[in-house]
Amino acid sequence: MGVTGRIGPISKIGPISLIGLMTPSPPSSPRLPHNPKNPITQNNMSQLQQDIRQLCQKKDAVIMAHYYTRPEIQDTADFIGDSLALARRAAETSAKIIVMCGVHFMAETCKLLCPDRTVLCPDPAAGCSLADSCKADDLRKFKAEHPGHTVISYVNTTAAVKALTDIVVTSGNAERIVRQLPQDEKIIFGPDQNLGRYINEATGRNMLLWQGGCHVHARFNAGVIARMKAQHPDAITMAHLECSAEVLALADVKGSTAVMLKYAQEHPSATYIVATEAGILHEMRRHCPQTTFLPVPPEGADAGCNECEYMRLNTLEKLYRCLRDESPAIEVPEDIAREAVKPIRRMLEMS
Ligand code: 13P
Ligand code: SF4
Repeated sequence: MGVTGRIGPISKIGPISLIGLMTPSPPSSPRLPHNPKNPITQNNMSQLQQDIRQLCQKKDAVIMAHYYTRPEIQDTADFIGDSLALARRAAETSAKIIVMCGVHFMAETCKLLCPDRTVLCPDPAAGCSLADSCKADDLRKFKAEHPGHTVISYVNTTAAVKALTDIVVTSGNAERIVRQLPQDEKIIFGPDQNLGRYINEATGRNMLLWQGGCHVHARFNAGVIARMKAQHPDAITMAHLECSAEVLALADVKGSTAVMLKYAQEHPSATYIVATEAGILHEMRRHCPQTTFLPVPPEGADAGCNECEYMRLNTLEKLYRCLRDESPAIEVPEDIAREAVKPIRRMLEMS
């Protein structure tokens, strides 16, 4: 059983810490060919998607999107994936412009791997409560209090935190990477306490865990899932490793978004209860149109989907505008970038 060591600051998870970021910036651009005040219809959505694809061709741009983004963004992207696949693809692409439809740390990771490319982010206010739960100054202090520890950080961190890190991991490779280190290596793991606890248990380690978390995955409740399982006794329950220990205990399949997707593709005749951000259901249904996927609603809601407000800030209008204007572009200060890219490269070598 893993032991939680001296901990970093408890993250503020919940809507209060999100105020400001949850509100999309007002869409206003006289040169935009679609009036963003009118609801987007199927017709103008297809037109906007075509316009975006044309801009990509003209400008040698590639669009990458995380599985949690809106369906219409995923349908417009050149590549969709989990955090690991997005980082890998960013390292490989030769496109002049990369548009990252995800959250800020994903665009930053992309810029760190492709410093000579223009990396665009449709809405730079798309933050991440998990990344927010670990500030670089706090981690620096924590490291000083625990000398001799290897620092492993989840990719959901700022470049400044990565610059203080030895190895970056994603939920798709964390366990594999930790297993490659000597069993007695002293490790600080952060910021996701649920992922860290899971790895401690799986590997028999005693990593010191930063007490951060994702507000979206914290909204899943074991009681809600237990009720759904009782209603659908044959269903397979899937949960992301960012979920609590109680939720993971009810899951048949635990892993990253890519792990869940792969499992569903390999077992399409099952019914699935899915405990992660609901955007993934779009890709699951695209691959397995006959399969029933039941999203777990957030705690307190009888039905509906659990969505990441940050990911939803990516809209087609903003995607169009950022490609057209080649702005907002992501920049990382050189001294931070120099250090922050090292643990990402180490991750890519080890995974
Ligand atoms: P993965 O894409 O690695 O599964 O991570 C999920 C997530 O929360 C991204 O922000
Ligand atoms: Fe961050 Fe959670 Fe949103 Fe992922 S789902 S981007 S971890 S806030």
